[in-house]
Amino acid sequence: MQKQLIITEDGSHSIFVKGLDEVYHSRFGAVNESRHVFIEAGFKQLTAKPPNCINILEIGFGTGLNAFLTLQQCIETELHVDYVALEPFPIEKKIWRQLNYPGLIELPEGDKLFFKLHNCKWGKFVEIHRRFRVQKDLSGIVETELESDCFDLVYFDAFAPEVAPELWTLPVFQKIFKAMKEGGVFVTYSAKGAVRRALQSAGFKVERIPGPKGKREMLRGVKGNDS
Ligand SMILES: C[S@@+](CC[C@H](N)C(=O)[O-])C[C@H]1O[C@@H](n2cnc3c(N)ncnc32)[C@H](O)[C@@H]1O
Repeated sequence: MQKQLIITEDGSHSIFVKGLDEVYHSRFGAVNESRHVFIEAGFKQLTAKPPNCINILEIGFGTGLNAFLTLQQCIETELHVDYVALEPFPIEKKIWRQLNYPGLIELPEGDKLFFKLHNCKWGKFVEIHRRFRVQKDLSGIVETELESDCFDLVYFDAFAPEVAPELWTLPVFQKIFKAMKEGGVFVTYSAKGAVRRALQSAGFKVERIPGPKGKREMLRGVKGNDS
């Protein structure tokens, strides 16, 4: 499917997919949205009581923006992260080479780290930084098998429920719930009622919290003792 770089309101790039009439991020700002939804509402929630190594699962690696922002946090906070990212439709090198994130997100040797994140082998853990390893997998969330009690944090960043309804289902959320550790945190930009109810049916304790610019709310789920 044809992909085209666009500039969002905060000056950061995103990708427009013509065939789906869908953008990878909010037009109000890709970096702004990723920081708000995944770093502030997700990563920082967990790092209040961080385990030695935080295991993260991302649904939809895409531009690598969430991984790059997480790497920045990891370096700033001295936490260790193992990051598993699912992506059945990787973007081409000619596109990711142009993404302006290394210029916008302050990180020593950011260009080099962003290149490594995209250029590394798929299907196995690769060290990007001494405190950050990534395993990118070409499998999609519906068909992939996940180990039980493995992840502390899940970034659910699939295309919107209207565009990819098959990814926002109870069986998918049940699979993710099982793969998460007790106390694990799940975040997504969607605030749809049907998504919230499916997450609750899967076992999550779900709250609606303020969304990024242009979106009133988003969802956060916790796998708790009493959930
Ligand atoms: C909204 S975009 C976000 C991507 C990424 N997190 C970013 O910040 O660029 C959704 C991503 O999910 C990927 N995707 C599509 N089908 C998927 C599936 N079955 N499992 C996991 N990811 C999928 C798409 O290719 C796309 O990269």
